[in-house]
Amino acid sequence: MLVIKSIKRLRTQIMLWRLAGESIAFVPTMGNLHAGHLQLVKAAKARAERVIVSIFVNPTQFDEQNDFTNYPRTEDADLEKLESVGVDIVYMPNRDEMYPGQILTKVSVSQVSEQHCGAARPGHFDGVATVVCKLFNIVQPDTAFFGEKDFQQLMVIRAMVADLNFPIEIIAVSTLRESDGLAMSSRNTHLNEMQRQQAGQLYQALCLAKQAVIERKTSFSEIQQTYLGILTGQGFKPDYFSICRRCDLQAATEEDVQLIILAAVRLGKTRLIDNIQLDLNF
Ligand code: PAJ
Repeated sequence: MLVIKSIKRLRTQIMLWRLAGESIAFVPTMGNLHAGHLQLVKAAKARAERVIVSIFVNPTQFDEQNDFTNYPRTEDADLEKLESVGVDIVYMPNRDEMYPGQILTKVSVSQVSEQHCGAARPGHFDGVATVVCKLFNIVQPDTAFFGEKDFQQLMVIRAMVADLNFPIEIIAVSTLRESDGLAMSSRNTHLNEMQRQQAGQLYQALCLAKQAVIERKTSFSEIQQTYLGILTGQGFKPDYFSICRRCDLQAATEEDVQLIILAAVRLGKTRLIDNIQLDLNF
């Protein structure tokens, strides 16, 4: 496994593989890798001859300086994990390589970026779209893998790739969970023991809300209010709990069939996000 920090060196290696006719899959990450990330890598390995993983804690997507400073950085353990699953290159640029000076250009995906996490974290999705655009231009992969845990992010990337004609297939990978349902996340390491026990209740709320949507005894807005109240009562501080249509993440109407419930809550200082998909059959 090659660990590469410079764009030039990375491009040379990729060119050699391209000349040999090999396909390239790409998994962008911010490190502190867990089994959810490795699930993406395994899916990537199944699709291409070469797999490149990037690790870069991208400062421009953090709306809170403390969150950026405290983001867990576990470089050695990450490299060990990536080696064990057979990654070809880990691309680990430093900040100056990605942002050498003032950055005048930014990628901003309207509409799908604006609600939910976009509303709760101003500028977050511009930071994500811009860094992923830069990484796509640097790596130029055939396929790129993103987790459904960050469903809004996945939609933002899909829109950017379609609008800007990137010749890259975006592949979604389902959310990997702990045994109590908590979606695996690098930020889970910030939870203390009591919070960790409580955190599984977010996914339970999503499962129960899904059931309520299927049963259709109450309106979507009543279900949302009910679960916002339940989560608050359990000690979470919810940012949102929204029943949306899956195609554009706008509020679902009673006619929509392909739905997703998106939720974000704070537990102490830790922000947790999760979602659950459902298809209604009439
Ligand atoms: P990061 O949070 O490190 O996540 C990297 C990828 O792993 C994302 O596509 C995310 O959706 C996926 N992922 C995280 N937890 C997962 C889980 N439990 N199951 C399945 N997939 C999971 O997302 C980012 O980094 C950044 O915003 C990035 C795209 C790298 C841009 O900086």
